[in-house]
This record gives sequence, structure tokens and C-alpha cells, in this order.
Amino acid sequence: MSDQRLLDRVTVVVGGGRGLGKATCHRYAREGAIVMVADLDKDLAEGVVGKIEAAGGRASAVVMDVTKRPDVEDLVSSTVNDHGRIDVMAIFAGVALFGPAMDCTDEVWQRQLDVNVTGTFLCAQIAARQMIKQKSGRIITVSSVMGQRSGDRRMSYGTTKGAVIALTKHMSGEISPHGVTINSIAPGPVKTELWLAANPDEEAAESGYLTNIPMGRLGQPEDIANAAFMLASDDAAWITGHVLNVDGGFIATGVRDGIF
Ligand SMILES: NC(=O)c1ccc[n+]([C@@H]2O[C@H](COP(=O)([O-])OP(=O)(O)OC[C@H]3O[C@@H](n4cnc5c(N)ncnc54)[C@H](O)[C@@H]3O)[C@@H](O)[C@H]2O)c1
Repeated sequence: MSDQRLLDRVTVVVGGGRGLGKATCHRYAREGAIVMVADLDKDLAEGVVGKIEAAGGRASAVVMDVTKRPDVEDLVSSTVNDHGRIDVMAIFAGVALFGPAMDCTDEVWQRQLDVNVTGTFLCAQIAARQMIKQKSGRIITVSSVMGQRSGDRRMSYGTTKGAVIALTKHMSGEISPHGVTINSIAPGPVKTELWLAANPDEEAAESGYLTNIPMGRLGQPEDIANAAFMLASDDAAWITGHVLNVDGGFIATGVRDGIF
């Protein structure tokens, strides 16, 4: 018997070209899944596919823009044409444009809404239509701890992530009766390219977080990929509408005076 726990599952990882999505693509492939690596950036997506194939896994690159309905429709229909079904839709594509709320422009506001909220909506809705026909499927959205707590310079970004959490809960009531689950991973800070670009003062950002992370470290992409694996696995069969904080305790923590 194989110990690969996603053997032959058809998985789509949107925003799989780098960062947290890339780590998830590798984890899914190691667990035996077929992985559609969907990303705006062709070179990134093809790079991930090349590494998966070199390691003996199965993957295909799909270039798409998560904000465009026809692109998402093509992604889902080509996956179903090639593989007969879609078992997992994990939606990692996102942008983080930090700055003071008083300086937030309409362009910055709209761009984050487009990618983070509309992109999640399109991927979840279009995948769910197929999964409802199959009477099974897993949708994984990616929100953030910043959709639940405030953070300096994070008003517009955090607002989009709060919307992703609401979308996840609202959609779960409608699609879960059809055997399709939807859950959200809310990562804490992980030093990806997105995080480094949004936090040019890396040291200040890191120490600002560490005060409130009792586990004493930032996350690694694999911490998030582990959660994305668990939610895709059979072990998560009765979990839906849930927000899974993967954050070293950040959300749980309030005052810390170190007196124990
Ligand atoms: N890194 C963190 O600390 C952190 C914390 C909380 C939440 N998140 C969320 O996790 C997700 C992944 O973040 P990351 O740090 O891996 O970012 P990243 O920038 O490293 O990777 C994001 C990927 O999404 C792709 N992408 C961006 N816009 C796209 C679009 N319109 N269509 C298709 N693909 C697109 C990019 O090309 C890139 O490959 C994001 O939603 C982010 O908000 C990240």
C-alpha cells in the first residue's frame, strides 16, 4: 500500500509559482497528487513543474490571471478535460501593498480587492460548480492573521483578508451539503518575496511580530504547506467553514509580560 496520502488526487494550486503556494505544490506532489501549478508568471510556474518532474512527480503549468473569470474558467475546464475531475483548489495568489490608511490610494485599494477577494471568489465559485457535480472536493482559501487583528500599515490588505474569511464561511453553508468543503488557512508571517517587499524594514517587522508569537519564530513556507496538505487529506473530511491559524500562537496572544 502506498503511503502517499493524496495519490492520484487532481489538485490545482493558484499562485503556485513561488512562496507558500510553491511549497504546497511540492508537498502535494510528494503525496502523489497531480498538481496544476497556476500562476500569472509563466517562468515561475514552469520552474516549479520542472522541479516536481525532476523529483518524479506529476505537474503541469498553467498561466492565468486570477482576476479574470475566463482565465479561471479555462483553468478548471482544462483540468477536468485532462484529468476528469478536480479534487482540490488551493488559492494562494495574493498581493500585499502596505502603507498608512491615510495614504491609501484608490488604485492600491482596488488592486488588492481584485486579486485577493475577487480572485478568491472566482476560483472558489468556478471550482465549486465542478465539485458539486462530482459531489466531492476541497477548496482552500488563504486569508491571514491580518484579517482578524490590526497591524500597522495593513488596513487595506487586512480588509481584503477579512473578506476572504467571510467568503469562506458564507460559501461553506451553501456547498458543504454537496460534499464540498471550504476552509481558510490564515498564515502568520513567513519571509516570502511578498512579505519582504511589503516589509522593507525587515528587522522592525520581524521584532514587531515576535513580541506576539509565543513560539518565538516566524513561519516557514512548509508550515503553511503542512496545513494545506492536512485540509486536502482525508483527515479533514468533516472540517468546513473553518479558519485555521498557522501562526505560532499570534492570534491567541494578547498581553505578554514574561512573568510565569
Ligand atoms: N508570506 C506571508 O507572511 C503571508 C502571511 C499571511 C498571508 N499570506 C498570503 O498567502 C498568499 C501567498 O503569499 P506568498 O507570501 O507566498 O506570496 P508570493 O508573492 O511569494 O507568491 C504569490 C504568487 O501569486 C502569484 N500571483 C499574484 N497575482 C496573481 C494573479 N493575479 N493571478 C495569478 N497569480 C498571481 C504570484 O506570481 C506569485 O507566484 C497570499 O494570499 C498572501 O496574502 C502570506
